[in-house]
Amino acid sequence: MATSTFDTLLQKIETRAARAGIIGLGYVGLPLAIAVARSGFAVTGFDIDPGKMVALEARRSYIDAVSNEALATEIEAGRFQATTDFVGLAECDIIIICVPTPLTKHRDPDLSFVETTSRSIAEHLRPGQLVALESTTYPGTTDDIVKVILEGTGLKSGADFFVGFSPEREDPGNQHYHTATIPKVVAGDGAEALALMKAFYGAAVSTVVPVSSNATAEAVKLTENIFRSVNIALVNELKTVYAAMGIDVWEVIEAAKTKPFGYMPFYPGPGLGGHCIPIDPFYLTWKSREYELPTRFIELAGEINSAMPRYVVGKLAEALDMRAGKALSRSRVLVLGLAYKKNVADIRESPSLRLIEIIEERGGRADYHDPFVAEIPPTREYQALKGRKSVTLTPEAVAGYDAVLVATDHDSVDYAALAKTAALIVDTRNVFNRLGLSADHIIKA
Ligand SMILES: NC(=O)c1ccc[n+]([C@@H]2O[C@H](COP(=O)([O-])OP(=O)(O)OC[C@H]3O[C@@H](n4cnc5c(N)ncnc54)[C@H](O)[C@@H]3O)[C@@H](O)[C@H]2O)c1
Repeated sequence: MATSTFDTLLQKIETRAARAGIIGLGYVGLPLAIAVARSGFAVTGFDIDPGKMVALEARRSYIDAVSNEALATEIEAGRFQATTDFVGLAECDIIIICVPTPLTKHRDPDLSFVETTSRSIAEHLRPGQLVALESTTYPGTTDDIVKVILEGTGLKSGADFFVGFSPEREDPGNQHYHTATIPKVVAGDGAEALALMKAFYGAAVSTVVPVSSNATAEAVKLTENIFRSVNIALVNELKTVYAAMGIDVWEVIEAAKTKPFGYMPFYPGPGLGGHCIPIDPFYLTWKSREYELPTRFIELAGEINSAMPRYVVGKLAEALDMRAGKALSRSRVLVLGLAYKKNVADIRESPSLRLIEIIEERGGRADYHDPFVAEIPPTREYQALKGRKSVTLTPEAVAGYDAVLVATDHDSVDYAALAKTAALIVDTRNVFNRLGLSADHIIKA
């Protein structure tokens, strides 16, 4: 029985006769759906958001990494369709889960999306299917939650159906790598599940990296993001220490990175942003409590990184006071860049929102300019900022502010013009120095 379900599915994958179902068509799921369709599989995308269906129906991509043309090509070739009706899961041979894994208000893992989705899959589960989780999570989720819910149907993993984990490594805005060219770590519950994961993902991406268990693959993803969080915290700490000593941390990093081995540059900034790095490390912190093991590095990095917006506003207040004789409470500040990183429109967990909030808590007034974010959408944490609009960057508008605070160094901004018109600039990204625009009224923070 086990061999025949396995052989049949493997053959369907190898001949591209298998249909893939991708649940959750967001930043991760939509690019994956297109990459899988492009490799020759028929793909059904499932999402609960009717707005996404309207956009896809109109061949309109809402994710930067997927162009409207790429989307239209796959739809018109009959390889990609999207639906909110989960009945179609029964027709899928491979089902991939790409739903959100946020933190709760108390910063514990919120696996409710993964659990709901697993229950939807269980309703339609049949022998001969491969179910893979891609959502970032703590080690043990695939085997202890997804597999357990699916086995509640009476079918057995490794015999009737197969379960695997493959972490997502999307890097929004990266011009050099995309879904198909980023090596993909894969794992499975048992040798046959792993072989199916290798065959399926190997068809869609250029390199697969097999590891021995689903928990190992889950740990790989967390390790990558914890590595970034800790190293960013380290340079943020060095920034504050060196600033007090009159040393420019960016100059230090530029020189340090000329060492051809044993050093890797990370850059300081106004705080962590994005959907992954501020959140994922705490999935491991939470799980490690079960083993009574502290995760001091992870928590310390979180503490240092989340203190950055307040540090930056402190530097802004100091500069206003010392250079313009003005209190922050009576100042108008233009925050430049709302997105958490350059050249993208993503504002999830963006420190810019926190900067605006802190400036206004201290009595100042903060507006923002961002070429990618025309208006602040509703957010759970910053409801008071909803509906504010990006200020157009004219010389007159800029001259009306006491300071410009650079939070995100989008490439399309005319920094030379800004340097001419702004009264005071506080730069958290070292962009002015990089462009050879250093001046007395530009300070780093
Ligand atoms: N965004 C990234 O760059 C990135 C990178 C690596 C890993 N991840 C991880 O991938 C996972 C997905 O993240 P994302 O950024 O794509 O999130 P997202 O919010 O962009 O997309 C998630 C999608 O899932 C849909 N959804 C929610 N509940 C659903 C349900 N029950 N059934 C079907 N669809 C449902 C939502 O409507 C949304 O379209 C998360 O675990 C995240 O940590 C994200």
